[in-house]
Amino acid sequence: MSAARFVIVAPRVITCDPARTRPGDPLGVVEDGAVLVEDGVIRAVGARAELLGSEAGGVRVHAVEGVVTPGLVDAHTHAPWMGSRDAEYAVRLAGGDYEAIAAAGGGIVSTMRAVRASSVEALSATLVERLRRMATLGVTTVEAKSGYGLDEASERRQLEAVAEAGRDASLPRLVPTYLALHAVPPEAHGDRSAYARQVAERWLPAIAAAGLCRYVDAYVDRSAFSVEDTRPLLARARDLGLGVRLHAGQFADVGAAELAAEFGAASADHLEQVGPAGIEALAARGVAAALLPLASFTLRQAPPPVDALRAAGVPLVVASDANPGTAPTESLPLAMAFAARLYGLTVAEVLLGATREAARTLGLEASVGVLRPGLQADLVAWDLPHENALIQPWGCPRTRMVLRGGALLSG
Ligand code: NIG
Ligand code: FE
Repeated sequence: MSAARFVIVAPRVITCDPARTRPGDPLGVVEDGAVLVEDGVIRAVGARAELLGSEAGGVRVHAVEGVVTPGLVDAHTHAPWMGSRDAEYAVRLAGGDYEAIAAAGGGIVSTMRAVRASSVEALSATLVERLRRMATLGVTTVEAKSGYGLDEASERRQLEAVAEAGRDASLPRLVPTYLALHAVPPEAHGDRSAYARQVAERWLPAIAAAGLCRYVDAYVDRSAFSVEDTRPLLARARDLGLGVRLHAGQFADVGAAELAAEFGAASADHLEQVGPAGIEALAARGVAAALLPLASFTLRQAPPPVDALRAAGVPLVVASDANPGTAPTESLPLAMAFAARLYGLTVAEVLLGATREAARTLGLEASVGVLRPGLQADLVAWDLPHENALIQPWGCPRTRMVLRGGALLSG
């Protein structure tokens, strides 16, 4: 893939381009299609015969056998984490409750201890390995949250590791999010509001000034932070020009979806527990719902109200939530399979939710998530003949070739 100009031809090119979608073809599929790439950018997409016919001589052609899609975009991960929660898994398999384990000083705070003990170099090395595995699964863009440092220096180290990995073009693209309110660290002695104030007034401006994050996130839930704890943080984020995404309604509807709408968040994530008012608020502000089926599977929860979200016109995103507690995996394709099987999303909803709609929530709609001229040549050639095969729970890499900006990430 090193040549500056080449064409990929495939029996089925899934463009996800709204300019190509029609009733009955929500994915804008080009059969017997071709994608012309030049200097890392998509120059043309179309029928193979037309595209090759207009290319008078000399262009290198890579014929692939399976379906071709845009590179997958994972819009919710906690990728820069360290350590292992294997002891907790054993407790949970024996019936232990996730929130109770966290309340007793396990959960997020146990990963905090591993992160606090890690240098930027160690964080970055672990993150890079994780990102390489994600790339083998077809993922070319990853949103990466901090949130396991729980003090300013450690949160910064997590985000510096993301910045470091983000400079490496042989890895998926990275979008850094400061997960500012995730849990209360032991030294705050349970004083949530004082902790939240310090994060909003001191840590966030410093982290933003260092250019370490594009989004701010908070875990707004019954055993986490309240709407009142979180509002000053989001107001400050808005003043600093940062985007907002929220962990909303994973365990209880405490008004997080309405809060996400109030601040015009890019997405409200989880939403296993959201009522009609929250759904209406999301729809009115065009806030996407980022669905995280691996987390609800791990926690044995019922799915979010997908039919109501869809009926209200809330854009649907599917993400991995890769984290050591509730989604101990790195596989967006597995999340896609579960979104179809457990949540009842259509194949098209799943694919758009892991490409175009995900990119939109990351502010990257002008560069990735769709196969269209002018966008980055981030694409995947799958060892699978059809998109219906793509959303099955293979649990192993089924990519033949994964490109970021026209260059090979995996394959
Ligand atoms: O998205 N719920 C909050 N945060 C993560 C889990 C964090 C953890 O258990 O380490 C989530 O599910
Ligand atoms: Fe999460």
